[in-house]
Amino acid sequence: MGDGFAADTFIPPPRNFASGLFKFKSTEGDGMPSDEDLFRIISNGLQGTVMPGWKDELSEGQRWHVISFIKLFSEEHFKKFRTKAIDVNNPVPNSPESVARGKELYLKYCQKCHGEEGRGDGTEFLIDEVFRLRLWPRNLTQPWTIRAGSTAKDIFLRISAGLPGTPMPGYGNLSEGVTLPRDARWHIANYVVSLADTRKKPTNNEKIVKRFPIPRIPEEVDSPAWDQEKGLVVSFVRQIEGKKKMFRPLNLSMLVKCFVDDKKIAFLLEWDDRTPSVEGDKVIEKLSEGLKLFQDAAAIQFPLVISDSVEEPLYFGHKGEKLHVNVLHWGAGTVKIRDVATIFEARGDEGMKKAPHPPENSGFTVKSLYRQGVWKVLMTRNLTTKETTDLQFGDQRPIPIQFAIWDGSRLGKGKKHYISDWHWLN
Ligand code: HEC
Repeated sequence: MGDGFAADTFIPPPRNFASGLFKFKSTEGDGMPSDEDLFRIISNGLQGTVMPGWKDELSEGQRWHVISFIKLFSEEHFKKFRTKAIDVNNPVPNSPESVARGKELYLKYCQKCHGEEGRGDGTEFLIDEVFRLRLWPRNLTQPWTIRAGSTAKDIFLRISAGLPGTPMPGYGNLSEGVTLPRDARWHIANYVVSLADTRKKPTNNEKIVKRFPIPRIPEEVDSPAWDQEKGLVVSFVRQIEGKKKMFRPLNLSMLVKCFVDDKKIAFLLEWDDRTPSVEGDKVIEKLSEGLKLFQDAAAIQFPLVISDSVEEPLYFGHKGEKLHVNVLHWGAGTVKIRDVATIFEARGDEGMKKAPHPPENSGFTVKSLYRQGVWKVLMTRNLTTKETTDLQFGDQRPIPIQFAIWDGSRLGKGKKHYISDWHWLN
């Protein structure tokens, strides 16, 4: 019944097999999923959720046996609602014309939920019909988070059948709602495939943030000068160690670029976020979880003293009581005061002690830009400062560096955030 002991720590929670509701299927109308649909999910898992694939764990025969068993939980439904497979033969081939037609249809039917450029930044407050939880539309530019596959055929099937139990409608021949002709659904599928933005695909392997020399650091967040470098994709994990846990990831990667000129060092952080959250924004508040809104935020930290021993493992959080960190923090702010820069020394993991100092003493400035589901935040600081609680960037040693973001419309505040592993700034 989807009520295992770990169930309520996950979003999305595990499926209740007894309810007869299955989200990902390739059958017409109100039909139950086919055995092949279930087989594919059990084999491959559901991308972007905790449901793993079992093809290395269970033999093919065992996977079919499991399916026979789980169908017993909603045997009546499987007997009653049997329909034929949606016809996926003769797809409309991907072409610029098909993509252009798909875009028009997308803007008409999908935009209000999935956002103008597909990052899930639509303007509807949606609820999961089964779990009564705030539900956010998929970010279609991140195919690695699309649950049941991201090929044109997969998308065509989702558009045709919808996602039962969610507000995501089907556009095939269903008993209610809008019906789109087959070709139209293929055009949209081709368009959705074209939205993929692999620049932010997490890799987990690369841990080195490079400092790129530039004659003069640009002041604008959207300066074309930033495009000279492709940057590094940093992966986040959910914070589930501290007291305020963050079990509900929506976006687990950020693109980081670092530039230096002869006086300053700058970090350009770019990540997807469905809402630009600033405190007091009534419009965003209506979209946010629990209708409570905090500011979005991002931070970078460095150990204040860099150990000469490379082997010494770095503590995951704020480096314990003895070793202090230097934190550069951007807060989206409030409707009245935007872009708040804070720079401080911190220590201790639980009950972190912060000692902020005036940002101007370090030449620390922040700037942000939110557009179409993307935050871009620019943090700039003097390479060397007179503050004893600042890390000095003068010498050439690799410096440990760690990143964090807070999602204010999803109750992100304080410890409730996403954090990266330690990386090296070279
Ligand atoms: C009423 C809002 C709404 C509309 C309209 C809508 N979607 Fe969705 N869509 C959602 C939600 C919510 C989810 C995520 C459901 C979940 O997480 O269970 C979703 C998920 C998806 C997925 C992910 C499937 C997977 O395997 O993860 C795709 C692809 C998708 N939508 C495409 C579309 C396209 C294309 C259209 C227009 C033809 C569209 N959607 C219209 C709300 C909507």
